[in-house]
Amino acid sequence: MSGTIINRDALYALRELPAESVHCCVTSPPYYALRDYGLDAQIGQEKTPEEYIRRLIDVFHEVKRVLRSDGTLWLNIADTYCGTGSKGGYTDPKNPKGRNGQAVSLAYRVEGCKQKDLIGIPWMLAFALRADGWYLRSDIIWQKNNPMPESCKDRPSRCYEHIFLLAKEKSYYYDGLAIAEPIAPTTAKRYKAGRGVGKYGKDIPGQTMQNINRPRAAGTFTDADISPFRNKRDVWQINTVPYKGGHFAAFPPKLAETCILAGCLEGGTVLDPFFGSGTTGLAAERLNRNYIGIELNTEYCALARARIGGETH
Ligand SMILES: C[S@@+](CC[C@H](N)C(=O)[O-])C[C@H]1O[C@@H](n2cnc3c(N)ncnc32)[C@H](O)[C@@H]1O
Repeated sequence: MSGTIINRDALYALRELPAESVHCCVTSPPYYALRDYGLDAQIGQEKTPEEYIRRLIDVFHEVKRVLRSDGTLWLNIADTYCGTGSKGGYTDPKNPKGRNGQAVSLAYRVEGCKQKDLIGIPWMLAFALRADGWYLRSDIIWQKNNPMPESCKDRPSRCYEHIFLLAKEKSYYYDGLAIAEPIAPTTAKRYKAGRGVGKYGKDIPGQTMQNINRPRAAGTFTDADISPFRNKRDVWQINTVPYKGGHFAAFPPKLAETCILAGCLEGGTVLDPFFGSGTTGLAAERLNRNYIGIELNTEYCALARARIGGETH
């Protein structure tokens, strides 16, 4: 398998990749106004959310061109509050490259938002992508049992992010069996008792998944008729994994692996235009897929290279 790391602004690097050349894209762009990665061309520090969304739409428009017609985009994104600004540009000395406080509340530049409002970035982005021609197929909730601590006392702490599944065309490659999940033990019992019996999917020999529930007479189902798997649901519980390599926004390898298993066949190519520490490449390699990673920051490219190898361009 091969890996390529391109040290460049995502938009310009994508413009030079051939059309219809990758099977799926798994990525996490910089979130709006949360981290300063310290480079002029970085995305995420725009004056308004609209400007931020526009830049991402330009990048993902190129991603759409580079994707095969049956390709998918798995896009991890989280929201931003118009903070009170009281943190005064605070930088945690233990985590200088981590989240920076908002010196001035974003409310002063986000139209329609007051101090403390949630902006709604994920859905702004999802709707803009849909308007740009993407098929918006799923809003997967990535739920974490070990979220980043928050000091708020007047709202629940956040413990999830979104992963939007978007497709280039109406029908696309999606390997549901590769990510199927076990049925609950009580489900098999219920089926055997004739209540809400699962339809036995015979479409792929040797591998099946429960799908549509149909009533059947009690006793007509045996263990052999019942597949232990069901279609994967849209809440994924995956904890964050500490990554000591100097990048503070890495997503867990299991998250990337799940998207790759469903979105790209073995031997295919996975793209990540915001490669960071290279988690998507690591997952692709473990699963025998090729990868192309694009990252603006030279230090992060070196980190990714040390973590997974790969040829740097
Ligand atoms: C949320 S992080 C991605 C983390 C990655 N998923 C991982 O597991 O390490 C976003 C990355 O986008 C990079 N970035 C910001 N602006 C960029 C641009 N214009 N082109 C390419 N990369 C950019 C940042 O340097 C950062 O590493």
